[in-house]
Amino acid sequence: MRRLLITGASGTLGRNVAPIAQQQGWEVCGTYYTNPPPLPGQWYRLDVRDCQAVMALMCQIQPDAVVHTAYQPRGPELWAATAEGAAYVAQAAQELGIRLVHVSSDAIFDGTNNLYTETAKPNPVTPYGAAKAAAELAVSAIAPRSAIARTSLTISREPLDPHTRLVLDLTSGQSSGQLFTNQYRCPIGVDDLAGALVELAAGDFAGIINVAGAEALSRYDLGCVIARAYQLDAAKLPAAPIPPHAASKVVADVRIDSTLARSLLKTRLRGIEDWFGVKR
Ligand SMILES: NC(=O)c1ccc[n+]([C@@H]2O[C@H](COP(=O)([O-])OP(=O)(O)OC[C@H]3O[C@@H](n4cnc5c(N)ncnc54)[C@H](OP(=O)(O)O)[C@@H]3O)[C@@H](O)[C@H]2O)c1
Repeated sequence: MRRLLITGASGTLGRNVAPIAQQQGWEVCGTYYTNPPPLPGQWYRLDVRDCQAVMALMCQIQPDAVVHTAYQPRGPELWAATAEGAAYVAQAAQELGIRLVHVSSDAIFDGTNNLYTETAKPNPVTPYGAAKAAAELAVSAIAPRSAIARTSLTISREPLDPHTRLVLDLTSGQSSGQLFTNQYRCPIGVDDLAGALVELAAGDFAGIINVAGAEALSRYDLGCVIARAYQLDAAKLPAAPIPPHAASKVVADVRIDSTLARSLLKTRLRGIEDWFGVKR
């Protein structure tokens, strides 16, 4: 039986990769950092900032493939976990001959180009985007046969993702803020993304591949889709354009073109309305 190691198996994405891989006949092992996944399974504590621990665990488990999702989006561990951690995973995978699928992000772009194909060059404007761009660079230099999957806002019912949580909190008055009407992304359902990552783990695609949803939506329109899916009052969602004083800090328009993935992969990469089964 093929063995898959998922780093960050306790996270929103990692928790959804595990069951799909199991359904497809993989023996699944996963890592967590602070919270073991709340499901029976082979879970190992790992801090990806620890180069030796990464190598030791991969030697111990000897997976056929690794799906690397673990990262930190902010805070003092951001660079070491997100950029250096990816390099350590790539180094171990390369030395041990293990197939690597690295999860990257549309946050590597500045949002001024609007349609990004696989040839688009990173130009990050946030610390998170810079760490993810560095991670990509490290993975492609150290383990050039890896697949680097660039994805977008990941929407999940279980566990609830932060974007959905914000919409629920905005409609219930538990949170304040605005959903921008001119900030575009290609949100993807977590199981569509997870299915694509498992398919990439089983294949031999090397290089960058965009894996995002089929439909570009503004953050406000995405909020309305989520509100409809949860039968909430979308009229309660506060809408506004990105204010001029925030324009340099907000990544406005990042539409990821996933034409290549749709031609290579069997997994459907649906638009988020289709994924939720709601219509505008
Ligand atoms: N969420 C999105 O909208 C989105 C969009 C584009 C790309 N992505 C990419 O998708 C991937 C997964 O995102 P997600 O939404 O699943 O994130 P998440 O829910 O925050 O999960 C992050 C995972 O990383 C683990 N982790 C954190 N620090 C670690 C460390 N030092 N060592 C080892 N593991 C560590 C966490 O473990 P514990 O929970 O156990 O602490 C958790 O399992 C990331 O690579 C992200 O860049 C996400």
